[in-house]
Amino acid sequence: MCGIVGYIGSKNCVPLLINGLKRLEYRGYDSAGLGLISNGESQVIKRKGKVVNLEKDLDKINISPTLGIAHTRWATHGVPNEVNAHPHFNTDKNLFVIHNGIIENYITIKKGLQSLGYDFISDTDSEVIPQLIDSFLKKGYSLVKAVHAALSKLQGTYGIAVVYAKEPDKLIVARKGSPLVIGVGEKENFVASDVSAIISHTKHVVYLEDGEIAEIYSDRFYTRTLDEEIIDKEVHQITMTIEEIDKSGYDHFMLKEIMEQPQSVCNSMRGRLIFEKGTSKLGGLESVEEKLNKSKRIVISACGTSWHAALTGEYMFEQHARIPTEVEYASEFRYRNPIVYPDDAMFFISQSGETADTLAALREAKIRGALVMGICNVVGSSIPRETHAGVYIHAGPEIGVASTKAFTSQLVVLALITLNLARKKNMSLIDGQNIAKELDKLPEKIEQILKLNDQIEEIAEEFKDAENILYLGRGYNFPVALEGALKLKEISYIHAEGYPAAEMKHGPIALIEDKVPSVFIAPQDSTYNKIISNIEEVKARKGRVIAIANEGDDNIDRLVDYSIKIPETIRMLMPILSVIPLQLLAYHIAVKKGLDVDQPRNLAKSVTVE
Ligand code: G6P
Repeated sequence: MCGIVGYIGSKNCVPLLINGLKRLEYRGYDSAGLGLISNGESQVIKRKGKVVNLEKDLDKINISPTLGIAHTRWATHGVPNEVNAHPHFNTDKNLFVIHNGIIENYITIKKGLQSLGYDFISDTDSEVIPQLIDSFLKKGYSLVKAVHAALSKLQGTYGIAVVYAKEPDKLIVARKGSPLVIGVGEKENFVASDVSAIISHTKHVVYLEDGEIAEIYSDRFYTRTLDEEIIDKEVHQITMTIEEIDKSGYDHFMLKEIMEQPQSVCNSMRGRLIFEKGTSKLGGLESVEEKLNKSKRIVISACGTSWHAALTGEYMFEQHARIPTEVEYASEFRYRNPIVYPDDAMFFISQSGETADTLAALREAKIRGALVMGICNVVGSSIPRETHAGVYIHAGPEIGVASTKAFTSQLVVLALITLNLARKKNMSLIDGQNIAKELDKLPEKIEQILKLNDQIEEIAEEFKDAENILYLGRGYNFPVALEGALKLKEISYIHAEGYPAAEMKHGPIALIEDKVPSVFIAPQDSTYNKIISNIEEVKARKGRVIAIANEGDDNIDRLVDYSIKIPETIRMLMPILSVIPLQLLAYHIAVKKGLDVDQPRNLAKSVTVE
């Protein structure tokens, strides 16, 4: 969601903060602002819209700040405008706060402060934080003590950064439910809501945990609990490079990330396949192997695209490992008093590792005694830090808001876990070896599919003006239909629905007419003949059809308007191939409509509020 970046040192921090904001813009992009301090002087500047709007007005800054905080906002309370943008401040405008999260009891706090004479100018929950801190400063508290006192009154979630012109030697950050890292530099320190904002300055970071407050000076920092106990923190070395978070010549991050999939899928498998034994080796699960193998049921929980991967995982685990598996929306799981058995194994899938609902579901499952494991991309993020064990997908940084390469890597990791579990149960060596071989061939087959980019762009031209599109698939390709529809909705704002192809007769068929096209995922598997019948049903009602079919399937061409031919693989792995044309189709339709592919309206890459 919102992005946070901050600096304390001896340089003028404005360019650095603006660069950091640009790196974080994928987290939220409805407004941005800077809170700056220099020798006891303070200045705040905020603009509605993207960071470039703020950048255009940097000449209005008339101090040379060496302490500053910056924010990109994704609105929760109050419309996106300049007043509601962060930083928020006290009446004297010398104390600035940026906030990621939601303060649930803000109305009560606001009323209390109003009765003491405090005026509020924004519609946000966040504005209570500087005003509350100010009320403690007025009682003679130091800044650190005032922040501690204020936080003890807040309910909800926060990642905050605070600076105060009267104590210009420090920057304070605190975390409860929203990620924050401290970047450790040479006589300068940084803070950020994710490392991409600061990696061009330092590779040494300290991850703040929930309930921790850090008091940061240019040459040192102290971390304490809310009860003011000092905690020693480990400094981690990060491996992410600047090149990984650049567009590398592509027009959009999304296209770059789609095109990176031969490599990202390969990275997810690297060193993990044992061909001769027809199995996989997953170091991150070894510590819980015994418990996992004995588990009677698997539950997979996630949100968004990761939930679609989870659904595919259910098919894999049940077909091959023969373990009953359920899939839960994280947001539903946490609020519905779920039944969790002590011998349940739960996987939580999350690209960012920070999604608030997934994190909360994980905590709930842990309290209820389940074995909890993560399948995440961002190393060091909250979910992997709170699970008993897990597997990183190693897809590399994903910046485009619409998830692409993370999805295919999640599927690869789910297949590796399936292989591992199944071989310990009843999968034969030959079957295991076959799956391993097919996994190994995926990068090359993805390369082949990416060569269809021009053909898919032409198809996009034909369908870009559709107002509704149906995506239909069976078995393993039903989750792909959901994912294809989600991609299109997210970035092109065309209404799209994913459906199990056989269910079409029970509702969506009523929508079919010449203006409502359908995308069928129709590989030559055991359901092929059935899906062909479903295509016939659509054609009989004058619906136009795009089919994702296998190479060599000439039969389908007579039936459909467009076919996109992809290589064959085993059923379980087909989604890793069949989703790629759908990612490209959504991408080209959105580009042709002139939309902002990487930062679609209303969406955020990492949803850290409920
Ligand atoms: C947001 C993103 C989606 C993502 C979902 C879950 O909605 O826009 O692309 O699939 O969150 O995110 P996660 O990081 O937990 O996979």
